Amino acid sequence: MSKQVKTIGVLTSGGDAPGMNAAIRAVVRTAIASGLKVKGIRRGYSGLLEEDIVDMSSISVADIIQRGGTILYTARCAEMRTEEGQKKAAEICRKHGIDGLVVIGGDGSFQGARVLANLGINTVGLPGTIDLDIACTDYTIGFDTAVNTAMQAIDKVRDTSTSHERCSIIEVMGRNAGYIALWCGIANGAEDILITERYDGNEQRIIDNIIEKRKVGKKHHIIVNAEGIGDSYGMAKRIEEATGIETRATIIGHIQRGGSPTCKDRVYASAMGARAVDLLRNGKTNRVVGYRAGEFVDYDIQEALEMKKDIDENLYQMARKLSR
Ligand code: ADP
Ligand code: F6P
Repeated sequence: MSKQVKTIGVLTSGGDAPGMNAAIRAVVRTAIASGLKVKGIRRGYSGLLEEDIVDMSSISVADIIQRGGTILYTARCAEMRTEEGQKKAAEICRKHGIDGLVVIGGDGSFQGARVLANLGINTVGLPGTIDLDIACTDYTIGFDTAVNTAMQAIDKVRDTSTSHERCSIIEVMGRNAGYIALWCGIANGAEDILITERYDGNEQRIIDNIIEKRKVGKKHHIIVNAEGIGDSYGMAKRIEEATGIETRATIIGHIQRGGSPTCKDRVYASAMGARAVDLLRNGKTNRVVGYRAGEFVDYDIQEALEMKKDIDENLYQMARKLSR
């Protein structure tokens, strides 16, 4: 078992996600309530390498639970991918007395955490990404807010699309993963949902579908397109040419990453933040916290990174049936 942890460091890394602040607040307050010190590391691994490290108190995380983004800022850091950078990061943790590190981020950030764990720093990862693409968990901090933001935006596009009897392609984020697209596709009643994990590139099938739906009286045609497929403007042009139906593309973009977190993101991020500290206090380190089958769980970081995840086939097939 690792020696008793006295000082916890916390950082956010990779793309920000609504709810990260709730997680930071929970880490800080749970640690302080347990008599531990907390240091906030700004701008992810970049800030760690630059020793941009500040003492955190209970008051320093007041008035943040409702705010999107991350008060600790975030970054992508190339140096952390090098052996030299990684050794330096571990040394800096030791120099600042950080004997437990909470890393809030996505898979990439967990790779960095795993390296630090192998270099002797006790780490715990919290899944923070709007993309929901972390294999060991059914929930990631920020997904719920992002998907609700995208859903509301698509509802708005649908209003104007129906009024003008147009076809609309709406591109949502998710990097290579189609979770936001699939959930919005279902929630917004899209006629077509294009996700990286399943799309076969058959544009003619979409065109036939649009023409068929028009014939049976549909006034709009909503296509939710995942970022990983992209090319929404090109697709809109080709569809308009082929069908003669006015077609517009909307890329929702970074609006999906911001905004006040939903209740779910605040509560789950808080629970995960508290669990991270409890794990470190109890000597259970080099873990990733997740949520599976209705429970908060934790896995060995190496094991978590080796897990694979795919779109729920039943959900995907249901979405296809409902869009007919
Ligand atoms: P996310 O954490 O959202 O997946 P990234 O993939 O951009 O975002 O990773 C965030 C940061 O984690 C990177 O900028 C880098 O500093 C660190 N990181 C990513 N991959 C590795 C790796 N293989 N080894 C060490 N650090 C890594
Ligand atoms: O990982 C979150 C995410 O918003 C992805 O959905 C998207 O592909 C990417 O980050 C965008 O990154 P950036 O903000 O660096 O453009």
